[in-house]
Amino acid sequence: MLDVARRFRPMPDLLRFVDLLAAHRITVLQLHLTDDQGWRFEVRAFPRLTEIGGRRSESQLGHGPESTLDGVPHEGFYTQAELRELVGYAAARGIRVVPEIDVPGHAKAVLAAYPEFGVGEIDDVRARNAEPWTRYGINDEVLNVEDATIAFVCTVFDELCDVFDPEASGTDVVGLGGDEAQKARWASDPRTQELMAERGLADEHELQAWFLARVAAHLASRGRRVIGWDEMLEGSGRAAASDGRVPNAEPDAAVPPLPGDAVVASWRGPVGAELGARLGHDVVLCPDLWTYFDYRQSDAADEPIPVGTVLSLADVATFDPVPADAPAWFADRVVGVQANVWCEHLDTRDRLDYAVFPRLAAFAEVAWHGRPLDWAAFSSRLPAYLAWLDAQGVAYRPLDGPRPDQQRPGVPGVPRSREERLAELARLTANLS
Ligand code: ACM
Repeated sequence: MLDVARRFRPMPDLLRFVDLLAAHRITVLQLHLTDDQGWRFEVRAFPRLTEIGGRRSESQLGHGPESTLDGVPHEGFYTQAELRELVGYAAARGIRVVPEIDVPGHAKAVLAAYPEFGVGEIDDVRARNAEPWTRYGINDEVLNVEDATIAFVCTVFDELCDVFDPEASGTDVVGLGGDEAQKARWASDPRTQELMAERGLADEHELQAWFLARVAAHLASRGRRVIGWDEMLEGSGRAAASDGRVPNAEPDAAVPPLPGDAVVASWRGPVGAELGARLGHDVVLCPDLWTYFDYRQSDAADEPIPVGTVLSLADVATFDPVPADAPAWFADRVVGVQANVWCEHLDTRDRLDYAVFPRLAAFAEVAWHGRPLDWAAFSSRLPAYLAWLDAQGVAYRPLDGPRPDQQRPGVPGVPRSREERLAELARLTANLS
């Protein structure tokens, strides 16, 4: 998955990226087309999404309390014709492109363009969202849950379905996001509470499930399956059976069930994958501790804008997607693994290269073998591989650390320890067990 929302990549860079993925025998490219910081998909019915939502006046420089703003405007979007070209280019190289529009959270770019889809008085929404977010992280803005807003979202997905045609792309999967939608605005807004009561929804988690199920049902009517982040399973009112049998016996009547063919992208540890598999969903494994390529590659001080936990090349090689002792009900549901490249801090092609290579080589081998790598064998092949990257002009991370031009001296990050992150994941996924 490549995040082109935080950082727009011009078409030539995207096509080059596809070539590199193909060389690594990667078979799917999920394109994260929208986020708080930018909307990159041309929607003819709603042109301000790209006119307003595709441009921000500046970006955050670094992460955490010491971060600043860079003062540099950032903009760009893909026309529908360009995305059709991308789909064809990728398909010719054995890669299916899965587009993702992220709802109902990560909404600040949408709300800058169309504040009527936000929660509360329109003037307040407008004041809070003068432009796409120039900061990074999680924020409180979400879409409202009016029928008109659902209709808007369905129109956007209709145009997406037209562009990402399964005949051309080879996949009927469409991403609807679903991650990190904060509940505070829904909880404090009288109109949202009124709509929840009318719909018989017990809390904001059920409301999120209701929202995503409505969009998923619309996509099903267009012959599409959805993929969503593991938050998609929250609030469904269905308890998982402890023995692994599919429960789903008494779905909550007020919350329409997710289509059974919805695919769960499990990023917050194993919990979402386990619940998804128990509920009979296909799952894609992308646990952040092994597959988030924005995470820092060492704990050395010269690592550029260090965020997340340490994920070195050797760490990627230890990724064990489906351990040998995993029960069949789980193993049978795992349809793939995914590396996620969030681009908050990857503002140039070279910085993207630095984050992705050579880690992608280890990831691709894990993906194909389905188990951790024999490090000695893998590393004996590395010199030839790095020479190949050099020949391709890839600005990869040298094994012994960043070159001076790859460092970001003075730009702060927020390194995390594994223990901190594991504790946070346990807290975040407590409602999925
Ligand atoms: C995610 O990292 N927010 C899916």
